[in-house]
Amino acid sequence: MPATYNIVVIGFVGSLGLAGCDNSTSSNSQPQADQSVSTEADVPSRNQDMQQILRGGRLYQQNCATCHGKLAQGATNWRQRDEDGKFPPPPLDGSAHTWHHPTTQLTEIIKNGTLDRGGNMPAWKDQLDDQDIADVLAWIKAQWPDEIYARWYRNDQRAKNR
Ligand code: HEC
Repeated sequence: MPATYNIVVIGFVGSLGLAGCDNSTSSNSQPQADQSVSTEADVPSRNQDMQQILRGGRLYQQNCATCHGKLAQGATNWRQRDEDGKFPPPPLDGSAHTWHHPTTQLTEIIKNGTLDRGGNMPAWKDQLDDQDIADVLAWIKAQWPDEIYARWYRNDQRAKNR
């Protein structure tokens, strides 16, 4: 993603807490409850496929942990550009903005990386197939707290219905 995008999102998260960055879509017919603080009752059922999550975890540790951290905690200075003007690897554990992206976008970022868009995320499409990427994403999402997962889930549903 372009670096400017990161700045916008980070500024937004900083000023509005966990409000979705996807407000441009709020004009569709989705209920406004999407913008409110979610409760236990809103939590969609989580992926229970432990085989998939374990497989994704192995792929994550082999390919992603060197940059994003063993626990997907990201680089400590992920909000600040490196000397090269690019952003360090962000956390993928639900504490940054990964959950703002629907699965189609996350898959695209992992497949193609961001090198050709001025970022430092390598492309994985030659090393990981669609199933591998789905498994890695299952592991990443399994790291997210219920409330973050619920917010991601609503964004993802909106993206599918667009
Ligand atoms: C060489 C270091 C490196 C490796 C290895 C790496 N990444 Fe990244 N990743 C980055 C950087 C740097 C960014 C930020 C990109 C930007 O600012 O354009 C990023 C961004 C991302 C994002 C977008 C996050 C967001 O919040 O928007 C996802 C998702 C992601 N990486 C997943 C993965 C997965 C899955 C793997 C393993 C298959 C992986 N990365 C391996 C460096 C890496």
